[in-house]
Amino acid sequence: MSFPVTPTLDTIVALCKRRGFVFPAAEIYGGINGVYDFGHLGTLMKNNIRTTWLKSLTNPRGEIVQIEGSLLAPEAVWKASGHVEGFHDPMVDCKACKKRFRADELDLNKGCPSCGNNDWTEIRQFNMMFKTQVGANQDSGSIAYLRPETAQAIYINFKNVMTTSRSKIPFGIAQIGKSFRNEITPKQFLFRMREFEQMEMQWFCKAETAPQELQNWTAQRLAFYKSIGLTMDKIRTRDHAADELAHYSTNCTDVEYQFPFGWKELEGIAHRGCYDLTQHSTHSGKDLGVFDEATKESYVPNVVECSIGVDRLFLTLLFDAYYEDVVEGETRVVLKLDKKIAPIKAAFLPLIKKLEEPAQKLYQSFLERGISVQYDASGSIGKRYRRQDEIGTPFCITYDFESEQDHCVTVRHRDTTKQERIAIDKLAEYLAL
Ligand code: GAP
Repeated sequence: MSFPVTPTLDTIVALCKRRGFVFPAAEIYGGINGVYDFGHLGTLMKNNIRTTWLKSLTNPRGEIVQIEGSLLAPEAVWKASGHVEGFHDPMVDCKACKKRFRADELDLNKGCPSCGNNDWTEIRQFNMMFKTQVGANQDSGSIAYLRPETAQAIYINFKNVMTTSRSKIPFGIAQIGKSFRNEITPKQFLFRMREFEQMEMQWFCKAETAPQELQNWTAQRLAFYKSIGLTMDKIRTRDHAADELAHYSTNCTDVEYQFPFGWKELEGIAHRGCYDLTQHSTHSGKDLGVFDEATKESYVPNVVECSIGVDRLFLTLLFDAYYEDVVEGETRVVLKLDKKIAPIKAAFLPLIKKLEEPAQKLYQSFLERGISVQYDASGSIGKRYRRQDEIGTPFCITYDFESEQDHCVTVRHRDTTKQERIAIDKLAEYLAL
């Protein structure tokens, strides 16, 4: 019997470390808060998330092209975007224990969550961007910031991209890459980090179609979450109230997931109006308008943005896929990850050492086709199954004595633990990896 358990954050953190999904960054030097490194399995799974997201972006309304923008941009970009002025979180310090908190996440009347005292500093605004100096000269022109969202690289390249890809409105520009925020209180592992990765798509359209596009994209994003196997009962949408909107937003719908620590934002889908392109036009002095052949007039397109954190989705997928069952009297941990997301698609296991050669040959044939597979010959077959269950491998392929005679292997299914005999020459077609 398989039952979903709600794993604690500690359980997920420990699993990630034990199996090489995620490690604390610079761990041997004591780590750095809110920053993580991804191991082999984590890297494979992240790649799968990226690929699946990109594939999910197609639609009949217009094409989507890609860019990879720089992480650093000069101060002028962030002044124009409003981030220098407005990308703040309210910060407060406990005067007794000196701990620092985000004021909007606390009930100040209840006292300090760390020491219980009720003695606070004034609330100050803290800018979350990482500021740096580019080059040897330290003047105002050399100030740069690490980007706090990938979106701005898309806006400042809008004309370059549109011209070179010969795109017509409506169309989208997608980008996957790192963003940096000096979060006051990074927390919940990969949920709120200081260095993280975003998958963002900016859909450029006419103002009159933008409200409908916000709905279209919300529906498409929900279909994406279903397609990667997330429990849809744990997904909901929430429209932002006017006082919650970011400085650039006209309207915003969050896709939320029910984490063990509450309903939280997984993705933001925002109607950003023509705010960003207008700001960059004004500040750079470059016309970012588009000529409309029908009306013979130039206009600044509206933007509908879909923005999700790769790491936050990674964490969501782990929480969602975590199950415990009792198999042959033993509790096993199993990650019921969708086949598209699972870091290892199949594991090849010779029943005993003597059968290593043909099992290796089969394994190599899958490797050569670029499929992420593992080979494991050590320990009892039960132990090897458990090792694969815990990392979410959908299939275990056992090569046994009978395989020599009937040219079949045993395929064991992760979720049901059911086993089937499949002809070796039909295996690739059967697994459909
Ligand atoms: N360009 C719009 C934008 O950046 P956001 O709501 O601030 O909007 C979008 O971020 C998504 O990026 C969030 O829904 C979340 O998935 C992810 N994200 C934001 N801050 C994050 C952080 N500190 N750590 C991990 N992921 C984060």
